[in-house]
Amino acid sequence: MASKEPQHGGPATPELQVNPLFSREPVTIPRYALPDGEMDPATAYQVVHDELMLDGNARLNLATFVTTWAEPQARRLMAECAEKNMIDKDEYPQTAELELRCVHMLARLWHAADPRHVIGCSTTGSSEAAMLAGLALKRRWRHRRGDRADGRPNLVMGVNVQVCWEKFADYFEVEPRYVPMEGDRYHLSPKRAVELCDENTIGVVAVLGSTFDGSYEPVAEVAAELDDLQERTGLDVPIHVDGASGAMIAPFLDPDLVWDFRLPRVASINTSGHKYGLVMPGLGWALWRDAEALPDDLVFHVNYLGGSMPTFALNFSRPGAQVIAQYYNFLRLGFDGYRRVQRTCRDVATRLAGKIAALGPFELITDGGQAPVFAFRVRPEITNFTVFDISAALREHGWLVPAYAFPPDRTDLSVLRIVVRNGFSHDLADLLLEDMRRVLPRLRRQREPHRDFDDAGAFAHGITAGHRQQSDP
Ligand SMILES: Cc1ncc(COP(=O)(O)O)c(C=O)c1O
Repeated sequence: MASKEPQHGGPATPELQVNPLFSREPVTIPRYALPDGEMDPATAYQVVHDELMLDGNARLNLATFVTTWAEPQARRLMAECAEKNMIDKDEYPQTAELELRCVHMLARLWHAADPRHVIGCSTTGSSEAAMLAGLALKRRWRHRRGDRADGRPNLVMGVNVQVCWEKFADYFEVEPRYVPMEGDRYHLSPKRAVELCDENTIGVVAVLGSTFDGSYEPVAEVAAELDDLQERTGLDVPIHVDGASGAMIAPFLDPDLVWDFRLPRVASINTSGHKYGLVMPGLGWALWRDAEALPDDLVFHVNYLGGSMPTFALNFSRPGAQVIAQYYNFLRLGFDGYRRVQRTCRDVATRLAGKIAALGPFELITDGGQAPVFAFRVRPEITNFTVFDISAALREHGWLVPAYAFPPDRTDLSVLRIVVRNGFSHDLADLLLEDMRRVLPRLRRQREPHRDFDDAGAFAHGITAGHRQQSDP
């Protein structure tokens, strides 16, 4: 939400001074009000361009999972398709066709028994996909319970879930049942998850690539526990896999890990095309194993080539360019290309994690060997600087490395997290290491920490004593 001007004031004057070098009118423009008249496009461009110079360098942003680099051909295709609206299936049948092809490719990648039966769609990101998947679980529960659907539906998940699942629960009135962290377990425990299930459980969410530390949750073990629950009680609880990052990593790097539609209990899977799908923001995907997993009464029909095309989405209009870029990437890289890109990300992550561990003051929470993301803490015996000090010091060198506290019951644990994406090379990782070595002597000389959790700002991730904050994407 943009609410900066009237409430917070700040240093901004209501007028923006336009550089006189342009020597064109106007010389000032209103900052927060719509200008009265027109302006030369070159001036307008320069004003906007100059404002944006203050944004960080996306390539040095090690907080985000979202793609920050694309090939010129992908960028060109996106520019060529900027005007295409994804919902206009009738106007742009080929864009619709490419979306369908992507869904089929993902269905095969995720081992659907019969990819032709899979139903899927593109979304703005994993958050929209999570809303859709959650709604399908809720509607299925309602159908399943029939007249007995009078209790409050609940969704079981680890406390480490990304904030989109808390939003889903809040917006769509589902009770979130979080499995807390415990000791060195930083994500879902299958046994603890199943203990929370009852007749009003719409599903269990298992995350492949936890936002907090990149770890995979044990989907197959959760499925086995739920099979056992069904045998014992008759309760049939489906699983949704939030594979925002991992669903585009595991198929290429961990082919023997069984987490996807090979498990009959997995009803649906989401991923972010704009994370390890390697597309610029914003694109996500949601797939359901078959028509039974996505109740037909949630599906709307739009006009398509004189016929009717089923759609399931929160938005109506949405840009088509990202879907086209996804298809380009699939075509351009193929299975082998994706495997090489993801392999390199994992190699960079694990090597960097190892070198950071060797610096001395740090202890790894994860090592980048699953999603190419790792978290590390300052050793508990170090009391004169914090992860928040490290984050601030690296920021002086241009690096964005978020520091944040873990959720219940490990709010005592604060970590730094590094997300390795396509384009973050061994070379850049070495430059980051050099900067870490540069800042450490100064921090070691500190008498006491200069920054703590309150300085984490927008990087803060999750639940703090029942209160959740927006996390980084
Ligand atoms: C596990 C997980 N789920 C969902 C999301 C939300 O994804 P998006 O930013 O694509 O909406 C994220 C973002 O980081 C995530 O890590």
